[in-house]
Order: sequence, then C-alpha cells, then structure tokens
Amino acid sequence: MSTAPIRKIAISTGGGDAPGLNAVIRAVVLSALHRGWECVGIRDGFNGLLMPGTFPEGGVVPLTAKSVAGITHLGGTIIGTTNRGSPLAFPVTQPDGTVKEVDRSQELVDMFDAAKIDALVTIGGDGSLTIGHHLARKGLRVVGVPKTIDNDLDRTVITFGFDTAVSFATECLDRLHTTARSHRRIMVVEVMGRYAGWIALNAGIAGNADVILIPEIPYDIEKVAEVIRERERTGRLYTILVIAEGAKQAGGQVSVLGKAVGQAEKLGGVGDKVAHQLEALTGREARTVVLGHLLRGGSPTAFDRLVALRFGAAAVRALDEGASSIMVSLDPPTVRYEPLAAAIARMKTVPLDCDTIESAKDLGISFGA
Ligand code: F6P
Repeated sequence: MSTAPIRKIAISTGGGDAPGLNAVIRAVVLSALHRGWECVGIRDGFNGLLMPGTFPEGGVVPLTAKSVAGITHLGGTIIGTTNRGSPLAFPVTQPDGTVKEVDRSQELVDMFDAAKIDALVTIGGDGSLTIGHHLARKGLRVVGVPKTIDNDLDRTVITFGFDTAVSFATECLDRLHTTARSHRRIMVVEVMGRYAGWIALNAGIAGNADVILIPEIPYDIEKVAEVIRERERTGRLYTILVIAEGAKQAGGQVSVLGKAVGQAEKLGGVGDKVAHQLEALTGREARTVVLGHLLRGGSPTAFDRLVALRFGAAAVRALDEGASSIMVSLDPPTVRYEPLAAAIARMKTVPLDCDTIESAKDLGISFGA
C-alpha cells in the first residue's frame, strides 16, 4: 500500500440504496476538502470506471462543496448505485453469446492509479465491502462505510438506513391495524431482510404485530394458524403478521423470484404464500402488503442522518491517519474502526437469545415456531 500523501480520493456507493447515502457523501466531501484533498464520485458502484462509455456525462465526476449542498435529507445517492456487475464477478459477453463472470479487480486498481486517485471510500453492504477488501489487498487505500437497511453487517451495532426503514414500516403497520380490524382480516406485511430479520423484528414490535416471521426462526404454518384461531376464541378477529422476505417454513426453502448473471437472487413472494396458506387453514380472509422498495426511499431519520454524517467524517479521518482496509463502525457512543476482513467474515443475524426476541415473546408476539 502506498504511503504517499493523499491528494485525491474517490467515493463509490454500491448495492441497494439506503436513506443516508447522500449524508455520507456530503460528510466525506466536506471533510476531504477541509484537508485540501480533491474528491470525485464514481458513478453506479464501480461502473463509472469499468464501463465509462455508458456515462455520457463522465463515469467519474468531481464532487465539490456545491455538489453536496442541501443533500443531507435526500434519499438515494447523487452518484448512483448498482447491485449488478461486481468487479469480482463482472458479466462479460463471450464470442459465443454466453455471459461469463470475470474478475476485473486488478484492472480496476490500475484504473485508480491511472486516474491518480490515492484512496477510496466505499459505501455499501457486504458486497461492496468485500470488493473494497479485495481492492485493498491489491494495494489501494480503502475505507468502508457500512450501509444497508437490513442491518445485517457484522462489527457495527447499526448500519445507516435501518432506522428509516423501521420507522416507515412501523408507520405502515399503524395504518394497517385499523383496516385489518374493520374488515376482520389477516394482514400479512412483507418487508425486506434477505438473511436477517432485523426490520421485521423491530418494526413488528414497535407496530404491535401479533406474529413476526424472520429468517432466523423457520416457521410452522400450523402454529401461526393456531395463533389466529386462539385470537378469534378471545374475540380478536383480526391479525397483523410481519414477515421478512427471507423467512422460510421449517424444512422449506427461501422464496426466490429469479437470478440474473452477476446479481444476487431476487427474493419475494413469501408474504403471498403465507397469506394463502392462512386463508386455507383458518377460513379468514387475508391480504398481503409488500413494503419492498418503499423501505429504501424517503428522507433519512435524524438518527440515520447523524450516523451517516459521523461515518463519512470518520472515514476521511481514518484515511488521514493512514488507516486502510478498515470499516468505520458504530460502537455507541463512539465511532470506531474495524478490519474490513472481520466485517465481511459473517452476516449479523438476529441472535435467538437476544432481549428483543425475549421481550417480543413476553409481549405475546408469536414467531410461529
Ligand atoms: O439492500 C438489501 C436489500 O434491501 C434486500 O433486503 C433485498 O433483497 C434487496 O436489497 C433487493 O434489492 P433490489 O431489488 O434493488 O435488487
């Protein structure tokens, strides 16, 4: 790794967007300018470098104080993102028309050199941080910033975007209570959460759900039906059920909608499946609401803005201190640095013995197991 003084850094946002990305970008840019460093943004993950021809306005764009003015409260990312085309498994069409995944990471590091970019701040989830880790191993100075509404990144208590997603899901549950009660229905609310049920768990408790189904606890549909029957025996003729997209029946499979080359499996459909099963088992009408990408939109909460701004500023401080191959992390009340290798080693799933699960059970919430 080079130890030459930093003059220019790049920012990349990768994977699914999350509220707070723009706040991180603002903090990185202002903190870099404060040190006299130049700052650029790579469009759509790393595609701005890997596929410059697809960006007529330039794949790498200058980021100035003006470009980051007034963006703290905006959802999305001003430099774009993608969750396809990882440089580690980049889809390349072969002469015979088939598509092969190719490792372009060394080529990417050479592109950073050619563009005289001394360091990278990569803002993303496990995919982007894994890419960052590989680039750091090839000699690039890299600091990661943990992002995902799913909150499934290890070595940080929280990722920005999660609080906004939970707040919105909770508001939706509040709204669904009245219609569920009025129509005496089962409302099945599907939320994001591929491998971890943090959104379903936290929003489910805050939004007074009766049943919460998460990937960490495979469910038994008959037990869920029994919860509904028991509620009916005591005069509660409606039920609110929150389910994470990655939840599965005991002995069953995750509900996959499809898989494209260079992309993770697309999950979905488990909410509808459960709704149909429960209608058949209980005879009560059920409706499904899929919150999906609504959870990723909108203005970040004050909590997420603050975490994002602190992460962005800390990432630049880390580079200034000579750190590399680390991820900034929240360990309340402090922002610390964690090795990237440790952060990507495992997913942070919901521990089955955590007090949140215990409290949910004490509140009478069923996990269908
Ligand atoms: O950011 C993670 C996530 O929200 C997952 O929960 C979900 O499976 C995925 O993104 C969906 O992403 P997209 O529809 O953008 O491919």
